[in-house]
Amino acid sequence: MAKRIGVLLSGRGSNFEALADSVAAGRIPDAEIAVAVSNREGAPGIDRARARGIETRVIPSKGLQREEHDRLVVATLEERRVDLVCLAGYMRLLSPYFIQKFPQRILNIHPSLLPAFPGLEAQRQALEYGVKFTGCTVHFVDENLDAGPIVAQAVVPVRDGDTPETLAARVLAEEHQLYTEAVRLVLSGKFRIEGRRAIAAEAPRAKAT
Ligand code: GAR
Repeated sequence: MAKRIGVLLSGRGSNFEALADSVAAGRIPDAEIAVAVSNREGAPGIDRARARGIETRVIPSKGLQREEHDRLVVATLEERRVDLVCLAGYMRLLSPYFIQKFPQRILNIHPSLLPAFPGLEAQRQALEYGVKFTGCTVHFVDENLDAGPIVAQAVVPVRDGDTPETLAARVLAEEHQLYTEAVRLVLSGKFRIEGRRAIAAEAPRAKAT
């Protein structure tokens, strides 16, 4: 039976679209996107999901306690029998309640080589720090910000003339590919977790090594 993916987003939704394209094209085999959930009214990603005929839910987080909101989101995901939760620009920390409901079944993508530059504006942080290489990371989600065992990373060189915008655009192009590879690996089940290390039975990507 097809594995059911639930995508959580707060904004533009380009990573959501990349996943939806990969599912439709069979790059993520035996899977479907069961629902796209946003915590923000008017998130463009939700319009993108609707345009594709994917079920959407907006569950505003404004004014709710973290766990109160998470209970509503978890109920929606459970109703749709979601196997894997993918955070795609979902700008909220998850509560322990949420994490415990989907053990090792929540992924996030972040636009830096974690543990460097967690949090907001990771590409600007990288530029300001002066690193020569940055990139993106897909990791399992735990209660901490941009933490949890790393599934896959891709490296992006920083150019002298980069602005946060030009760097973010090149990182984003890598994000779209990396997320597909990571989701495919996790849904295949061909990996194990040892401590902080997620070890693939097959190499997810030669480029990042
Ligand atoms: C992406 O760059 C994603 O890595 C980042 O937000 C952007 C969302 O873009 N996520 C984080 O910074 C999480 N800490 P998108 O809505 O077009 O996918």
